[in-house]
Amino acid sequence: MAEPLFELHRVSRYFGDVPALAQLSLTISAGERVALIGSSGAGKSTLLSLLNGTLPPSSGQLRVMGRDIGRLGPGQLRQVQRRIGTVYQQHHLVPNLPVIHNVNAGHLGRWSLFKAAWSLIWPQAVEQAAQALAQVGIAEKLYTRTERLSGGQQQRVALARVLVQDPLVILADEPISSVDPERSREMMDLLRQLNQDLGTTLVISLHDIGFAFSHCDRILGLRHGQLLFDAPVQAVTDAMIADLYRI
Ligand SMILES: Nc1ncnc2c1ncn2[C@@H]1O[C@H](COP(=O)(O)OP(=O)(O)OP(=O)(O)O)[C@@H](O)[C@H]1O
Ligand SMILES: [Mg+2]
Repeated sequence: MAEPLFELHRVSRYFGDVPALAQLSLTISAGERVALIGSSGAGKSTLLSLLNGTLPPSSGQLRVMGRDIGRLGPGQLRQVQRRIGTVYQQHHLVPNLPVIHNVNAGHLGRWSLFKAAWSLIWPQAVEQAAQALAQVGIAEKLYTRTERLSGGQQQRVALARVLVQDPLVILADEPISSVDPERSREMMDLLRQLNQDLGTTLVISLHDIGFAFSHCDRILGLRHGQLLFDAPVQAVTDAMIADLYRI
């Protein structure tokens, strides 16, 4: 049995009086590929923010890598967060900098301010950045200005930035909703490849449920902040999907 990376016990998150997530209990183990699906407002992004420690739960218990996230000091929290890479739909890359600087931004939680500033003049960790870019298939772009890359390549840079963190888990919040079908497939293939080659756990929110079935091994169905189902892909039926998106 793989070690649990995330353990939620009756976790709720409120914004004002409204529960964005209500009484969620689930466990995610190392090596899994988990899709989060559900209508807009179902709580997918909120759940990802809880998992990476940027939002505290309002109630319940959340353990990340065996640590009770509610009891960690800021330093301890950062230590846990270093092994969690998050990719968003917006890449937040600095367009006019060479690719290597955007990749190295993945070190910022770990590097001193001095080292980070020095790296802008004299790039640090070049080997590691090159390796991360090779892993996402654009090794030759190390010194290219980021804005000269295509949308799909920029997406790969954003993923390389996460990879230099040496993440145990990648959380992805709709990483493919703004790209064309071919780029979407490439990105999903890449995420699955990283999971298979490096064992990186994947938790990904998706509007395109086809990719949940083709690229993940487990699906969490969220509806109005509640977990409607949590099942291996093979067990998810059309009726469950219809129920999930019922208006
Ligand atoms: N910072 C916030 N302040 C107030 N309410 C919020 C905040 N973030 C989320 N919510 C509310 O929590 C609920 C869940 O939002 P969330 O963003 O998690 O949904 P989602 O499933 O990611 O939706 P989408 O598919 O549109 O991205 C919504 O009702 C939303 O309005
Ligand atoms: Mg969202």
